[in-house]
Amino acid sequence: MLSHPERFTSREALSSANAYRSCPAALETLAKSRALPRQRTLILADGEQHQRHRKAIQNALSPARMMKEFGPTIERRVNTYIDTFVSEGRCEAVSQLAIPLPMSLVAVIFDVPDEMIGTLKGWSDSFFAALSGLVPEEVVIRAARDTLEFENFILDRVAARRGTDRTDFLARLTNGVDGAEPLNDAEIVNICSQILVGGNESTISLIGNLIYQIAATEGLESELRTDPTKIPAAVEECLRHEPPLQAMYRITLHEETIGGQVIPAGAKLMLNFGSANRDENFYRDGEDFDPDRDNTETLHLTFGRGRHACVGQTIARREAVITVTALVNRLQNIRLLPDHPPARSRIFGVRGFEKLHIAFERRHQETE
Ligand code: HEM
Repeated sequence: MLSHPERFTSREALSSANAYRSCPAALETLAKSRALPRQRTLILADGEQHQRHRKAIQNALSPARMMKEFGPTIERRVNTYIDTFVSEGRCEAVSQLAIPLPMSLVAVIFDVPDEMIGTLKGWSDSFFAALSGLVPEEVVIRAARDTLEFENFILDRVAARRGTDRTDFLARLTNGVDGAEPLNDAEIVNICSQILVGGNESTISLIGNLIYQIAATEGLESELRTDPTKIPAAVEECLRHEPPLQAMYRITLHEETIGGQVIPAGAKLMLNFGSANRDENFYRDGEDFDPDRDNTETLHLTFGRGRHACVGQTIARREAVITVTALVNRLQNIRLLPDHPPARSRIFGVRGFEKLHIAFERRHQETE
């Protein structure tokens, strides 16, 4: 289904229901947007329109450039966040590490100072909550207000870059640097909201899931410390075992028969990556987290597949590998705290943690 966008459209890929559509007050707020008519981009677009946005974002966020620019930034930031709790012997890993890291990278992408992180996270939480389509009206209205604030923030930055020779992310989308086509305001706003949410929510879950596995899996911490070349495989196994986004959606454009089941045109399908990733035809004992599993042929669907496959997967993997490397190098005996059991995320379709308290000792080399 992911491989056939001409049969399964992704124009409502993100949610089971469109919360705004059934909320007149939110629609009234959204009508005041500076970026009308609204544009569906990337994950919400098909065909040529999608190709155009995909080209622009690949240019603006190319894995090679991302890694060159972001590799050292990620490492510096991971260590700065660890510095804040390393001497305490314990921390709440979601709020003290998993959230600030990806959020700070989104701030780098938008070229804004770290002081904006709280605001960016507030907007992201608000948009993400509205996506579930199962929230009270006041949450949807708040998300509509936040949408306008976010749009103004992006469009002011776009205006400051239009016609300049800057080469940062927003300048690339605005001016079409290096042969890419310039995009219009509405397209840029929509792409940026996908970067805001996509760039952090699922990475937060990935980092939390990894820290949980290190704390809960006997011997894993010392195995990864002794042989750091195993870290990428452990990250891949965690991605497979617990996809942060459990599912995305597609709509059938024609009648389809899938697994012997006739599905009418116009049906909304929930593609459950969490289930596919444990398919016993592909993964023996798929329910088990096995860091030594051969995941070299990454069949898992955690980053999707085909034309819409995640544009941020290189950066997400890099964030994860650098975080695990720093944790096992600087801390030891990482463990869960029995009096503070981990609390799973309560957002529909998300596999991650809301709270993850851990205890540890500072490593000897670290204190020297
Ligand atoms: C562990 C972290 C991440 C996970 C699990 C994840 C998951 C996904 C999935 C499943 C898709 C495909 C959706 C579909 O086919 O309907 C996707 C697309 C996308 N992701 Fe990610 N993502 C992650 C990190 C990131 C990061 C760090 C960024 C940006 C910096 C990002 C930006 C995007 C964008 C813009 C798309 C849309 C691509 C398109 O439609 O062409 N993601 N992601």
